[in-house]
Amino acid sequence: MGRDHQLFSCRLAIVAILTFARSVLGGTSLAHKPQMGWNAWNAFKATVNYTIVQDVMERFDTLGLKEVGYEYVLLDDGWASYNRTSDGYLQANATSFPKGIEALAQEVHAKGLKLGLYGDSGHYTCAWRPGSWGYEERDAQTFASWGVDYLKYDNCGGFQSLTEAPQVRFGAMKNALALSGRDIFYSVCGWGYQFPWHWGGDIGHSYRMSGDITTSFTNETECQCKTAYCLNTGYAGCSVLSIINKMKEISQYQTQGHWLDMDMLEVGNANFTLNQQQTHFAFWAALKSPLIIGADLSKLSNDSLGVLTNTAIISVNQDVLGEPVTYRKAQSKEGLFQVWAGNVEGGYVVLLLNEKSYPQTVFLSFASLGLGAPQQVIELWSEKTLQDANTFNGTLGSYQTHVFRVQT
Ligand code: GAL
Repeated sequence: MGRDHQLFSCRLAIVAILTFARSVLGGTSLAHKPQMGWNAWNAFKATVNYTIVQDVMERFDTLGLKEVGYEYVLLDDGWASYNRTSDGYLQANATSFPKGIEALAQEVHAKGLKLGLYGDSGHYTCAWRPGSWGYEERDAQTFASWGVDYLKYDNCGGFQSLTEAPQVRFGAMKNALALSGRDIFYSVCGWGYQFPWHWGGDIGHSYRMSGDITTSFTNETECQCKTAYCLNTGYAGCSVLSIINKMKEISQYQTQGHWLDMDMLEVGNANFTLNQQQTHFAFWAALKSPLIIGADLSKLSNDSLGVLTNTAIISVNQDVLGEPVTYRKAQSKEGLFQVWAGNVEGGYVVLLLNEKSYPQTVFLSFASLGLGAPQQVIELWSEKTLQDANTFNGTLGSYQTHVFRVQT
């Protein structure tokens, strides 16, 4: 065999190995940083339509959302028709999306953005559109042929979703997406069932760790699981604070490229105070959750927009190390205030949360966290540099979170 021929065979083998690795890994390069975008569900539920999406695309530009890193426009439940085509393919709801999804994807791409759809691992979606159970490969091919960039895949859907393990149901779509020929971000939405922080990283680029968020900061509406290792069912109505509290048990399990999804943001939807909105956004950012805006962008207040576009906080989320903060029990006081910390490039970040509705004075020594000697400390919301880089001694308002970026 000639030398050229050997080199050629060697190259072919490398290409084959890389292609195989890509399909097995599910294109993790797509998720090197937590995904950022907008999703229709929290504000519009299943009424999402073309006019809403067109308005969202405009506002990604005019509100400066694209500029700070938001890139995915995500249609949730309701985009599809109640019926497959006569030959068994998914199709858009003809009234809400008269031009269909392929044309929409072209418009979204022309704006420099990416399009996501929603599907389900059972027979039906939660809003009774067709699920993909038994149709995984066909539906993945359809998404790819339309130019879809992202799939949120849900846990509703009748019989199969209760009898087949989530690993099987979500795994089937992972394999189908890998065969589709298109890089599609895979967002697993299994509500935290069967503790996906121990297996979800092998399947999705991100995976939900809790039942649905609600527009309440402290009170649960229906949320039955207030701890991460809860066996109860019931999937919705969790407050911002209970989702943060569940992360105490599990944030350490996520790895770069496989993010724990704390659910879509309620910043701009609820009657949250500015402190509450900042706390909500800071924790989602520092815990490396996807940052998916859930608000009606046409109604955002300046305060909410300021929170969602704060580049210092966003840079914590998008940091190259991809390391989530972890709960620091020794520095916290159960039920009163919480301290969380983790490494970022050039130092570390510390979150100090007053979880009470009244102001509290708190003392914190940065060195006690064991993450290195602080040289300079900036509180990111106020942009103030602390005079003493070793300690914080001050008062936090109701539900306020200070985010300290510590340079070492
Ligand atoms: C839930 C899911 C929500 C939303 C909704 C749509 O199961 O957790 O985020 O997608 O279904 O019906």
